[in-house]
Amino acid sequence: ASTLGAQAAQSGRYFGTAVAAYKLNDRTYTTLLDREFNRVTPENEMKWDATEPSRGSFTFGPSDQIVNHALAHGQKVRGHTLVWHSQLPGWVGAITDATTLRGVMNNHIAGEMTHFKGKIHSWDVVNEAFADGGSGQHRSSVFQNVLGDGFIETAFRTARTADPSAKLCYNDYSIEDWNSAKTQGVYRMVRDFKARGVPIDCVGFQAHFGTSGPPASFGTTLANFAALGVDVQITELDIAQAPPTAYANTVRACMNVARCAGITVWGIRDTDSWRTGENPLLFDGGGNKKSAYYAALTTL
Ligand code: XIL
Repeated sequence: ASTLGAQAAQSGRYFGTAVAAYKLNDRTYTTLLDREFNRVTPENEMKWDATEPSRGSFTFGPSDQIVNHALAHGQKVRGHTLVWHSQLPGWVGAITDATTLRGVMNNHIAGEMTHFKGKIHSWDVVNEAFADGGSGQHRSSVFQNVLGDGFIETAFRTARTADPSAKLCYNDYSIEDWNSAKTQGVYRMVRDFKARGVPIDCVGFQAHFGTSGPPASFGTTLANFAALGVDVQITELDIAQAPPTAYANTVRACMNVARCAGITVWGIRDTDSWRTGENPLLFDGGGNKKSAYYAALTTL
């Protein structure tokens, strides 16, 4: 096939991109979006600071724009993200009482998921809850510090009730290398959730890579998580300077694992990337296909 989405579909996978609502009136942008991609993740519009900036009052203008555009163009949507320590409004971070915070977290999950019910294929229920470095434990956050280790389980149980037909994912970065304490910490959590019947369907590997691309063990990591009985996805792919070999190695790691459901790049053109000056994406600022594009397409 001649596009990323259509080529990925030949093996039952998808190829997606992060989308910013304010770019949907840029014709170069939407032309590439609707030609190449069949999955969409809102880059910022579904985060807590965007959807519930003050307690109990939800705003869905920009996120609705993205969802409506996607559904009108046959693209499925990954909801990103319900519980995250970052891009979190100050009023949430200021809560010190566990009963209050648990109610606020569950109300946020239920409020956002109910608004989009039936329109979201998969949700990043919890994002980036594990610490960097060697601890293999949860990172410090208002959720961890006030609610304790159980906050992730609570979030997933609340999410399952709010929209039982949505796939529920845990999403994180730097969990691609099998030989890292952070990866092992997330692996133990997923294994424990599956053993105890806590609802979890998928694990997203952000894959924000340096120039050398994925660690050699990335394929092993994807296979080992999949063997726990969850789907795996590459959810925010970008690679500094976009070396074609690094992109090919990343795509191949997914292709080699039956339960690797698809790949999402974190933006369309280099000028759309959050990694300013790193040119980490598949299209240049003018919307032209880069070498990395062809490497990805031919490896799918
Ligand atoms: C980034 C966005 O791309 C930026 O526009 C924003 O300023 C900060 O967040 N991990 C995630 C994404 O899960 O939500 C982040 O997106 C990148 C790191």
